[in-house]
Amino acid sequence: MSPSDHPPSDPSEPPPAAPPPLPAVRVLYDVETIAARNRALATEIAAIEPQRLLVVCVLKGSFVFAADLIRALHAAGVAPEVEFMILSSYRTSTVSTGRVQILRDVESEVRGRDVLLIDDILESGRTLAFAKDLLAARGAARVLTCVLLEKPGKRAVKIDADFLGFRCPDLFVVGYGMDIAHAFRQLPFVGVVEHSETE
Ligand code: IMP
Ligand code: MG
Repeated sequence: MSPSDHPPSDPSEPPPAAPPPLPAVRVLYDVETIAARNRALATEIAAIEPQRLLVVCVLKGSFVFAADLIRALHAAGVAPEVEFMILSSYRTSTVSTGRVQILRDVESEVRGRDVLLIDDILESGRTLAFAKDLLAARGAARVLTCVLLEKPGKRAVKIDADFLGFRCPDLFVVGYGMDIAHAFRQLPFVGVVEHSETE
């Protein structure tokens, strides 16, 4: 439809109501801080000289981080293939029940390859531990893990990330791919919702 196809607006009608304002988000890690950390992470990952590297992005929350990190890896001289996996950990509204289900699996053969799992947040550790065990059981040479954020004191399963962006305070964070009720994934920084209707 070209602009000329729009009917002329009726001056007697009130203008459409503006959408309600989104709650304010306080910046925790800004764009420059995240970019610098991604470059450092890529250098650390390149230093272990991964072989036939397959990056597995654990959707959805890690998609922005993974997109930036693979480009930082390219700048560091690493040429991975990239795959995606969707896992759901059953939760009541706030509490993880511990069961993890595969909603979408990787399509590539992982046998004999180094795999780098990328996730957004390491909290109970159940999601990452499940994915790591699964890919190891399929014969990956090494399964390495990289998470943007780690929340302290929350682990239910014994797992540490091999590569960590930031150890973050125990707050609900959004942005840079992460959401609360599907909102805020588009923010270029990681932040904390100041006033939310869900609070
Ligand atoms: P866990 O380590 O298996 O408990 O899973 C952690 C997952 O919970 C993360 O990958 C996120 O999807 C989600 N999550 C935990 N804390 C937050 C948060 O503060 N903001 C957004 N998502 C979160
Ligand atoms: Mg997640």
